[in-house]
Amino acid sequence: MEVKSIKETHTELMMQSVKFAKDEQGRRKGQAILFKWPEIEKQLGEHKHIYVVDARLGSNNHTHRLWYDVIPPHSEEGQEWKSLGHRHTVEAIIYFLKGKGHSIIDGVRYDWGPGDLLSVPMFSWHRHVNDGDEPVLRIASTTGPLSLALGQAVYEDERYPEFWIYAQEGEDARKTLIPGGGGSVEAAKIGNNRAAEMYAEQVAFAMHEEQLRRKSKVLVKQKDLVFEPTAMGSLAYVVDPRIGFHAKALGVVMAEIPPGKRSGAHRHLYDEINLVVGGQGKIIVEDKEYNFDTLDVLSIPVFQWHQYFNTGTEPLRILGINTRLAMDNLGLSLTHQGEHADYV
Ligand SMILES: [Fe+2]
Ligand SMILES: [Fe+2]
Repeated sequence: MEVKSIKETHTELMMQSVKFAKDEQGRRKGQAILFKWPEIEKQLGEHKHIYVVDARLGSNNHTHRLWYDVIPPHSEEGQEWKSLGHRHTVEAIIYFLKGKGHSIIDGVRYDWGPGDLLSVPMFSWHRHVNDGDEPVLRIASTTGPLSLALGQAVYEDERYPEFWIYAQEGEDARKTLIPGGGGSVEAAKIGNNRAAEMYAEQVAFAMHEEQLRRKSKVLVKQKDLVFEPTAMGSLAYVVDPRIGFHAKALGVVMAEIPPGKRSGAHRHLYDEINLVVGGQGKIIVEDKEYNFDTLDVLSIPVFQWHQYFNTGTEPLRILGINTRLAMDNLGLSLTHQGEHADYV
């Protein structure tokens, strides 16, 4: 067996970093872009929970994933979750396509129907209930891949208490939105100097975050979306910290393009997954074109130019779920605007 010298080993490690960006460009180009609804629907017939965009299935998206699932009809008693539901240290977006029901999130009830969206605050217990006679069809997107890569992903599920990390510590640990609980800020306060003050602020940070999560907006009703003209076309911000959400990683926008029109073109350093909510169209990603229909999913690779065209006769509506906020918080955001939309 070949034995490498220390010099060779460490030179190789250094070169991995130097080569990464170039290699990554190739991986982005190889990323699957279009996921057709008929294929997803077929899979949903066999299993009620189908991952669509997911690094574990070959996507080059490092920060979020998207799946489709079906909640079967019947009352709350027929649901798999009875009381706590589950919670996780990842941000989650749920968008309902068919059926109606409600969710209990951190003890609060939210009623929803088709076109409504939930932004689930980090580490809040939540469960979803189908209140109708028809199956509920929904998509969900989470920052699971990002939290897992950071080594900070905790999923606590009442169906699998053997994997609980914090919840088994008792009633108090089950009520907090802070993994492991907040502890005592008082215990961190000593002395009267700037360093002691800064350290006390550090210890208080999680408790402050918890309060902000509990004040966060959670439910967006379709009828409340406000569309306004932008360089990219007609856009409604759905989830964003600037409109009342305490989101740190996942943002959501809804775009609308009239028949025969096109959006602006842009590229950005965040991952984006689109759900086609209505209509049909075409997307150009760099030098390739893809035709899509309602309920198809598009996965936009990082920093590739993309532009949407409505090729149908109905308004085209696209729900864009992105990790722009995570990139903002890492200091990595960059968006380049190209051609403007032709209808605003
Ligand atoms: Fe969840
Ligand atoms: Fe985009």
